[in-house]
Amino acid sequence: MYIFKMIQQVAGKNSRSLYLPVALSCVDALLHMGMFSTMILTIIELIGGIFTVEKLTLYSIVLGILFLVRAILFSINYTQVQYRGADISAQQRLFLGDHIRSLNLGYFNKNSIGRLMSTLTTDITDFEQILTHSLASLIKVLFFSALTLLFAFMVSWQFGLTATVLILIAFPLMQLSGKMSQKYGGNQRTSINRVISRIVEYINGIKTFRLYNLTGEKFERLDDSFTTLKRDSVKLELAIMPFSVSFGFVTSLILPAALILAPGLYQSGVIDTNRMVALLMIGVSLSSMMATLGSLYPELKYLSKAAENILAARQEEPLSYRDDAVQLKAFDISFSHVDFSYEKNVPVLHDVSFSVKPGTTTALVGPSGSGKTTIISLISRFWDVTKGTITIGGCDIREQSPDTLAENIAIVFQDVYLLHDTIANNIRVGKPNATMKEIVEAAKAAQCHEFISALPDGYDTMVGEGGNTLSGGEKQRISIARALIKNAPVVLLDETTSSLDADNEKEIHKALDALMKDKTVIVIAHRLNTIIGADQILVLDKGRIREQGNHEQLLAQNGWYARMIAEQAKARNWSIE
Ligand SMILES: Nc1ncnc2c1ncn2[C@@H]1O[C@H](COP(=O)(O)OP(=O)(O)OP(=O)(O)O)[C@@H](O)[C@H]1O
Ligand SMILES: [Mg+2]
Repeated sequence: MYIFKMIQQVAGKNSRSLYLPVALSCVDALLHMGMFSTMILTIIELIGGIFTVEKLTLYSIVLGILFLVRAILFSINYTQVQYRGADISAQQRLFLGDHIRSLNLGYFNKNSIGRLMSTLTTDITDFEQILTHSLASLIKVLFFSALTLLFAFMVSWQFGLTATVLILIAFPLMQLSGKMSQKYGGNQRTSINRVISRIVEYINGIKTFRLYNLTGEKFERLDDSFTTLKRDSVKLELAIMPFSVSFGFVTSLILPAALILAPGLYQSGVIDTNRMVALLMIGVSLSSMMATLGSLYPELKYLSKAAENILAARQEEPLSYRDDAVQLKAFDISFSHVDFSYEKNVPVLHDVSFSVKPGTTTALVGPSGSGKTTIISLISRFWDVTKGTITIGGCDIREQSPDTLAENIAIVFQDVYLLHDTIANNIRVGKPNATMKEIVEAAKAAQCHEFISALPDGYDTMVGEGGNTLSGGEKQRISIARALIKNAPVVLLDETTSSLDADNEKEIHKALDALMKDKTVIVIAHRLNTIIGADQILVLDKGRIREQGNHEQLLAQNGWYARMIAEQAKARNWSIE
């Protein structure tokens, strides 16, 4: 069956750990059958007037034992299934978390955050729900129903046949309800993803939205997503309803069939009283089992959509790399005829070639949108080049393992992300085993020791999620301390400090100077000092390198660079006046 196949595909080898709970569910169904038969026997004997105290004791003992065994089995099964289900879903989360980390960042452009968040939270929880609850219930219902049907045939083939025909008629209806559940459940899940994306967007942009009075329902994107979800949820229920109601109707006919057949067969002498009683009891039991199946099946189909989503997220190809990745000794960086586009047919970089010698600084300058941040992102392999190659230490970065690459590069970007953790631990991200002494040293070099020490809890101060309890400059200096403590041979940084006051800017520049010292640096430069002091300057324009050389060489070329320097000088004069 489809559901079992999905479980196997998602859980892989781990699905074997579910064999025991599945087997225990079957045993439970057998024991349930035992209790059911004992009860039928009791009623038959009561009606026949042959019920004695001894029999009462015997049946009570049998029922007591069966009950006890079932209770023990249930508790074992429950613990096992919870433990194994939780284990499988924890592994799925870890695996997916790791997998996502290895994906091209383009994936996050195309796929809304909502879908990923849904997969990591709701989908895995739903999948766990299949493993820990629905699967066992399904197996038990199916097994018990099969046994009851067999029992029905043994008591009276006429009733067995009638029940089978009714079930066969109802079966396609159940399948249709499952199909509807899967189809409309899929739409409803997409709507949930959209709601999550919009909520994340809303929370992230709350300041802007308040400023523009776009709160609550006035923020149409959020409001729309709620309305769509409401519509899709109703559609889901309405789509399933006719089929599950019809399934319920057809299977509930098993009971009246028993009520008509049992006395009829008894009166025509085909069955005796005992069989008539058994038949009636079977009718009740079978129709109630079918009612459970009728609601369980579409629910399982709905939940199995979660398994599909997990598989889809896993199937996204990670960036390729070689396992036997080399350990680098030199850290020169080289771009060779690199073309790149984020979106198909919208080229952003054209035939970019340059090399950076170890221990030197290369400054990237150029107008907004010329591709400076893109170049830095490509070196960190957030994306892969469309054409050409990027090498570090003579080795194509696509052949280096992501971990080696990450180890060798320290990045300081404009949008600093701090974890909801202590300041010390936020710096420690750069070097997980760093001592407190090293952390303080890095903080001193990054000009943040002073403000950290002034906080009531010092280095143990908790930082709000995303770093929102610190000022922009403070966050940036902590991110520089983080990069400093990493002590990676290659440093990539974005020097833009537009939103900072002069004091803050000075501190940050001091911190950046400490970070760049003796490293192979590529910097998106804004300070004249950095630009003039760079060993090499690359002037970018519309994704091409227009000019290349050091300060003197570029001035002599008398091109874009010379004009920019002249304009800056002019701007300075104006601002002084
Ligand atoms: N994630 C992305 N998806 C699609 N296009 C992008 C993406 N990031 C940047 N671009 C486009 O790529 C081009 C280069 O952008 P990039 O960020 O590299 O410019 P930049 O030189 O760093 O500009 P700035 O000085 O404003 O930071 C721009 O046209 C931009 O619109
Ligand atoms: Mg940029």
